[in-house]
Amino acid sequence: MKKRVVIVRGVFPEVVQSLQRKFEVVHNAEDRPWPKEELVERLQGAAAAMTTVMDRFDAEVIERCRDLKVISNIAVGYNNIDLAACKARGIRVTNTPGVLDDTTADLTWALLMAAARRIAEGDAYVRAGDWKIAFGVQYFLGADIHHATLGIVGMGRIGQAVARRARGFDMRVQYYNRTRLPEEQERALDATRVEYHELLRTSDFVVVMAPYSPSTHHLIGAAELALMKPTAVLVNSARGGVVDDAALVEALRTKRIAAAGLDVFEGEPDAHPGYRGLRNVVMTPHIGSASRATRLVMCNTAAANLTAVLEGREPPNPVN
Ligand code: DGY
Repeated sequence: MKKRVVIVRGVFPEVVQSLQRKFEVVHNAEDRPWPKEELVERLQGAAAAMTTVMDRFDAEVIERCRDLKVISNIAVGYNNIDLAACKARGIRVTNTPGVLDDTTADLTWALLMAAARRIAEGDAYVRAGDWKIAFGVQYFLGADIHHATLGIVGMGRIGQAVARRARGFDMRVQYYNRTRLPEEQERALDATRVEYHELLRTSDFVVVMAPYSPSTHHLIGAAELALMKPTAVLVNSARGGVVDDAALVEALRTKRIAAAGLDVFEGEPDAHPGYRGLRNVVMTPHIGSASRATRLVMCNTAAANLTAVLEGREPPNPVN
């Protein structure tokens, strides 16, 4: 009898077809997020769940899905899964590191540039028909990116990909990470490790690349925003919750910092309503890794991970 795999959200047809060669596949092609009860019900008898960061596998869900052997996240992050509960039940958890670094770094730069040069604001202005005088010396003044100081908080693979892109802009790159990168890597990236508060005080652009965990909860809050330059731009394309949204709304409203570019929010999809009326924030709906090519590789990586576990092999990308 074929083992059952449940693909909890909509994925590409070719991914479903390739899994169907080996497994009985239930696919949520409709892509409607299943509420908890429905999720548990649909996972009865399933040996594997292929999931996204928005599908919460808390201790109760894990306890009630008795046949589950592997949860394969289509994401590098896995803060949607209770790892301790998985450990207790012997459930393997896997992710998709590495394959989305460049795509997410690209989006991070898009947000940085859009926030610095007021792209979304300018676009809205032209669309609304408000552009009446062709050119003004003081119109839409933004911040220079070239030769500015970029501060990266969290220098993992994506942080490093962000740093590499800064070379083209002749930027000074500094980073904060718990552990210092090997000197050779620092030299290759032309990046210097500084203390966290120094980074906040001296960077023109602060890019948050730290994963979410209890220790990174509100890593950027009112106190940290107060340390930043009034001309600074903050970018978060890592995880909601690493930045305190209420504090950031206030900092943007009072011009404590100049602007922000955000791809992730606390309580997605309900981004803090305070952002909506602010012109100095540019927002995207958690699309850091959303190029077709990258999302396909992520899905295929997740499929390879769960296949390995169900076939009794070590998965290529184990989390536990
Ligand atoms: C990840 O991989 O963790 C992203 O947030 C989802 O694309």
